[in-house]
Amino acid sequence: MCGIVGYVGGRPALDVVVEGLARLEYRGYDSAGVAVLADGKLATAKRAGKLVNLRGALAEEPPPAGTLGMGHTRWATHGPPNDRNAHPHVDCTGAVAVIHNGIIENFAELRAELEDSGHGLASDTDTEAVAHLLEDELKAVGGLAGTGGAGGGLAEAMRRVCRRLDGAFTLVAMHTGDPDLVVGARRNSPLVVGVGEGENFLASDVAAFIAHTRDAIELGQDQVVELRAGGVTITDFEGRPAEVQEYHVDWDVSAAEKGGYDYFMLKEIAEQPRAVADTLLGRIGADGRLRLDEMRIPDRELREVDKIIIVACGTSYHAGLIAKYAIEHWAGLPCEVELASEFRYRDPILSPATLVIAISQSGETMDALMAVRHAREQKAKLLGICNVNGSTLPRECDGVLYTHAGPEIAVASTKAFLTQLVAVYLIALYIAQVRGTKWGDEVFAMVQLLERMPEKVAKVLETMEPVRELARSLAGERCVLFLGRHVGFPVALEGALKLKELAYMHAEGFAAGELKHGPIALIEEGLPVVVIVPPRARDVLHDKIVSNIQEIRARGARTIVIAEDGDESVVPYADTLIGVPAVPTLLQPLVTTVPLQVFACELATAKGHDVDQPRNLAKSVTVE
Ligand code: F6R
Repeated sequence: MCGIVGYVGGRPALDVVVEGLARLEYRGYDSAGVAVLADGKLATAKRAGKLVNLRGALAEEPPPAGTLGMGHTRWATHGPPNDRNAHPHVDCTGAVAVIHNGIIENFAELRAELEDSGHGLASDTDTEAVAHLLEDELKAVGGLAGTGGAGGGLAEAMRRVCRRLDGAFTLVAMHTGDPDLVVGARRNSPLVVGVGEGENFLASDVAAFIAHTRDAIELGQDQVVELRAGGVTITDFEGRPAEVQEYHVDWDVSAAEKGGYDYFMLKEIAEQPRAVADTLLGRIGADGRLRLDEMRIPDRELREVDKIIIVACGTSYHAGLIAKYAIEHWAGLPCEVELASEFRYRDPILSPATLVIAISQSGETMDALMAVRHAREQKAKLLGICNVNGSTLPRECDGVLYTHAGPEIAVASTKAFLTQLVAVYLIALYIAQVRGTKWGDEVFAMVQLLERMPEKVAKVLETMEPVRELARSLAGERCVLFLGRHVGFPVALEGALKLKELAYMHAEGFAAGELKHGPIALIEEGLPVVVIVPPRARDVLHDKIVSNIQEIRARGARTIVIAEDGDESVVPYADTLIGVPAVPTLLQPLVTTVPLQVFACELATAKGHDVDQPRNLAKSVTVE
């Protein structure tokens, strides 16, 4: 949600910043803007719409070359997505430029105060208030430090401003009077420092600078960073030196590129066998026992857990719904699954014996972070499942299990979802191992089956041409329903979500058994209904859904049936049959989700949509 880049060094800042924005565009694409400092003057350019519009403007009117710059790609919160509201925003003097990710909650009051004291605000954004506050605070601290003067400087002014702000924000600012300084600040929204040689970077995500350096510093909560070509200084909002965590990014620039695919989403779907394999790697000992030491929650404490609550949003929430079945079945613990955005606003009953698992690909989703903080206040144990090293979620949990999907850049989550499933299976089996709710050989047998899943997912991917053909043939439809039972129900929800967000079509996922309680009224002649059929081994469940298929078919539905290879019983009732490899019921989402991802991606592409950047969306939702 909004991408931010800052640069100081020896190269042309504009090139570095625009290249960084291109890698961050997945975070928001309502507008884009840059500021470069050259010859003591700020040059800014900004355009509504995608980065391509800004690139066009920069080509028409190139700003003077400078080696200090910053850029922003916006997901609009305050004010419509037009040129005026695009970042950077400047103060009354035109000397300070600011970009921002997040929401400043007390902005109305700050704005009123600024207007009363004579500042003229040109945009509808909350961000602009910060530029004017910096203008005032710079006067209060006696002006610039370092090159420009003897005052407290831009960093001190930023600390003073941050102390006045409520809400979530990442801010980056520069000033005409200090041509070697970019100042950043963070509370609740992500900001990472890229450490180069004679140059340094700031960004919402390492992808923005990965082509230049893989050495990064994770900024903590409420910290301000002074970035100069020769070094980086980090303090808290009071100016005290801060403890920071340095790390090396373990993937390179090729992981953040399309690698010959038309869309990141296609590449990420194709990467799923590897992502699943990587997430299993190193977690299974030679004796077949699971080793999840990185969880940092001692086995003794896991034995004391009496309830698990999973909090997550969107696709990650669907992974949580599937986790419930695995945890209850293998670990024998009660498990509730909550939308993170709802959890925080009720009064969940938690205790030190409750394990709260937060699932988030980005580790920055504000709703998930707020849910974790809510659980922390009530002394629950906290475990994160996260894909992004250096993000906020792992810092706020007692332990973390990283998924190893690699960077997921398409807005719609695919490979991260499959790896989240692997992570929840590992956790459920590990708890079963620790608590002894399953015999060691039962856990081992399931782990062996898990190890074969990359090959099964690869097999699904090999047979997707008929799914693509089907998707193209349905591009003119207005509505598609998805039905499933047991773990097939969250898969149905996920299939519907993918279709909604990519193809902008009405799509709903239902528990197949619920259909007769209302939704069956939606069925009409020719309505496409996708049904996920459990393995034949689950005979009662399987037979019930075969009956459901007959019920909807009798009412005119066009049935698209996903069933395990060789399941002859569904053949008479399937207008289209999509086969997936036979796997145990609990693991089936790993193979049944893939055709739904391909289906949504192809259908949206047939409708001419940009599947990497669906309208109104952004990856990493850092506002509540
Ligand atoms: C859908 C999608 C979103 C995310 C949700 C949570 O394809 O990607 O629904 O799953 O915004 O994001 P994370 O997992 O980063 O917390």
